Amino acid sequence: MQKTKVFIDCDPGIDDALALLLALCHPNVSVVGIGVNCGNVPVELGVKNVLHILELTGQVHVPVYAGAEKPLCRDFVSAQDTHGENGLGEIIFAQPIIKPQKMSASEAILLHAKADTTLLTLAPLTNVALALQKNPKVLQAYGKVISMGGAFRTHGNCSQVAEYNYWCDPEAAEYVYANAGRVIDMVGLDVTRAFVLHATARAQLKNINNPLAQFAYDITGFYQDFHQKQENLNGCVLNDVLAVGYLIDETLCAGFLSHVDIVCQGKAMGQSLVDVGGFYKQSPNALILQEVRVDDAMQLFWQTCFNTDYKMLKI
Ligand code: BDR
Ligand code: CA
Repeated sequence: MQKTKVFIDCDPGIDDALALLLALCHPNVSVVGIGVNCGNVPVELGVKNVLHILELTGQVHVPVYAGAEKPLCRDFVSAQDTHGENGLGEIIFAQPIIKPQKMSASEAILLHAKADTTLLTLAPLTNVALALQKNPKVLQAYGKVISMGGAFRTHGNCSQVAEYNYWCDPEAAEYVYANAGRVIDMVGLDVTRAFVLHATARAQLKNINNPLAQFAYDITGFYQDFHQKQENLNGCVLNDVLAVGYLIDETLCAGFLSHVDIVCQGKAMGQSLVDVGGFYKQSPNALILQEVRVDDAMQLFWQTCFNTDYKMLKI
């Protein structure tokens, strides 16, 4: 079977870290490069975390590119309250031996733009916007573009209406959707909010004799505590993992085509405005995902990364 080639732009971040595990471990996926945007943590910490994950999975050949240190035109606000000071739940790991490339993430997004490759973003869209400013056709050159971000019918996770990735750099998100020249598959909170690693399932990771299961257990403790405090949820939402699940099997989610704008000012900053009524007669620039097969996606994650049948767990 032909492998799905993917360039991933990310900001690890606990759910990014688990998403990278899924992409790196799946036999049908070939990760051609990983870019890092400032986001959950400052970019140098995100790079360090990606390098650690590559060493953990033995995929040390995958090139890593550092990207934007701040949003296009505003101050950077991290999500270290959610992911811990180091971005990996404040679990301390050895300093990685491998190093990032000298090329920037936006240059790498230009370099890897090919019809047989998907661009998957799990972070604010600064690197992608910078690439698009350099080459207005770059997103059309990818076979597919998938972005974890936004929210349509559900509430936000960092304001009443905004999702973090688009809220952190709304000008970049707006620039990307306005100038992509193609449809972007928007894996927003409407579907990811349902993709919960419940506390009882997480507890079982501890008993699996597999280093990746131990890693997943260790880094999700802080994240689960945050969800308990912030959302009164006994578990944690694995947003970015679902986006990789959708990359692997697009039947896991379904949605509709529409036009999206991102609000750049005021209380609704970062909101993804979906013109579901077609009021402005603009051609669709997004596939807004609304339905998800949660158990099948979780099964894909557990089978691939931990060699464990999720559906057989007692949760
Ligand atoms: C997104 O923001 C980050 O906190 C997560 O890593 C995910 O990419 C969810 O809003
Ligand atoms: Ca992320």
